[in-house]
Amino acid sequence: MVNNKPIGIFDSGYGGLTVFRSIFQELPQHDYIYLGDTARAPYGNRSFQTIHQYTWECVQWLFKQGCPLVILACNTASAKALRTIQQQDLKNEDPSKRVLGVIRPTAEVIGDYTKTNEIGVLGTKGTVQSGSYPIEIGHFFPDLKVYQQACPLWVPIIENGEHDKPGADYFVKKYLEQLLAQSPDIDTLLLACTHYPLLQEKIRQFVPANIQIVSQGDIVAKSLVDYLQRHPEMDDKLTKNSTQHFFTTTDDTADFDHYAEIFFSAPVKSAFAEIKC
Ligand code: DGL
Repeated sequence: MVNNKPIGIFDSGYGGLTVFRSIFQELPQHDYIYLGDTARAPYGNRSFQTIHQYTWECVQWLFKQGCPLVILACNTASAKALRTIQQQDLKNEDPSKRVLGVIRPTAEVIGDYTKTNEIGVLGTKGTVQSGSYPIEIGHFFPDLKVYQQACPLWVPIIENGEHDKPGADYFVKKYLEQLLAQSPDIDTLLLACTHYPLLQEKIRQFVPANIQIVSQGDIVAKSLVDYLQRHPEMDDKLTKNSTQHFFTTTDDTADFDHYAEIFFSAPVKSAFAEIKC
């Protein structure tokens, strides 16, 4: 791994694996390091300052492993930490490195999915309160109406393996009803949290059939392909030996591997990453 220049993929926990799965399908030749900060997840209800601090520590760790490019495969970190990292931290650390998020690539295309021009965004409290989606979508689709709903209990339900159990139904239904009550014309639901694809089947049960549900994995993966085509100087730096390494900040790597496999749809063997706290 020493001479590898992998793409770093970061999430607070397991959710980013749903994005990594799609990225790997699009770009199987690249090397990757996935880091899930499971010891400190979920980030969704934490303050701006804490989310920025944790995210930046993890990004720096990925830089130390040789990653010239890091994807924040986490909406909460993209909403709360990305701008400061791009505009301040990188300048001091190493301006040749790049950190990209998941909100902008999603905002660029989400308007193409709706016919009524009204969409619902489901996310963590942090993502919703940041207003990042309405702001970013407004740049690309100024006439689009964006309704938002925070779902603070969905990530803990998912991270504890309860997403496909009957107990999850109450909170899935509750947040969906709150969102759909905001307008009868919403025809597109954006899963604006990388954990939520695991709830997609349950969400489908409580949403009328005419409403489509959009998850971000494929959108972010296609956007990364496009980014690397537009930035050959970055793609040239990245090594391409098809390796994948997984790291967790929890010392119980077996526990991480068990849940990670569900998100990644393939076996995962992780190692412990000691992040400075
Ligand atoms: N997966 C993260 C996201 O996309 C959120 C998880 C968390 O709350 O830590 O927002």
